[in-house]
Amino acid sequence: MSPAIAQPQIQLRRARPDDCVRVWEWNFAPDVRAVSRDARTVTFTEHARWYERRLARTAEPMWVVLDARVPVGIVRLDRIGGAGDVARISIALAARARGKGVGRRALAAACLAWNRPIVAEILATNTASRACFEACEFEAAYERGGVVTYHWSP
Ligand SMILES: CC(C)(COP(=O)(O)OP(=O)(O)OC[C@H]1O[C@@H](n2cnc3c(N)ncnc32)[C@H](O)[C@@H]1OP(=O)(O)O)[C@@H](O)C(=O)NCCC(=O)NCCS
Repeated sequence: MSPAIAQPQIQLRRARPDDCVRVWEWNFAPDVRAVSRDARTVTFTEHARWYERRLARTAEPMWVVLDARVPVGIVRLDRIGGAGDVARISIALAARARGKGVGRRALAAACLAWNRPIVAEILATNTASRACFEACEFEAAYERGGVVTYHWSP
């Protein structure tokens, strides 16, 4: 098993097959869908198929966020174009875990672990997410169609 990546009290561990249901719950919570670029919902069966394929892409990390060892969310890095060094990041925390600094520390840990350029595409209206990424030194590069693209580099 790969070692966990730590920030104080927060750990990222590689997502596992048995996280499938909780990842579904985090990613498809109505309030998360409402702030996602792709607001469409999918069936659990579709999610499970995607999840199995996504887990197999081991060069593109997908981590479960642990707060005091309790799973509270997911952070994912998808390589842009499927190859290369630049990754697109996405994060979703359970509602009960938000607003306590977990997101900021999870993002910082993910950036440290990837240690290569990262982009984030965030709805302009998603104030909490934008504040979180800005707190992690992501810089707004441009806004198009209501989506702000942020860049981070080591
Ligand atoms: C976005 C998200 C990951 C942020 O994580 P979080 O743990 O709630 O954020 P934190 O508590 O670490 O806060 C980080 C910064 O954002 C600010 N922030 C957090 N929630 C905020 C809110 N609702 N409004 C304004 N600022 C907010 C904090 O003040 C903090 O800034 P600071 O470090 O300068 O004080 C989390 O809220 C979430 O999962 N939301 C739903 C899914 C989502 O929006 N994902 C991102 C899609 S791109």
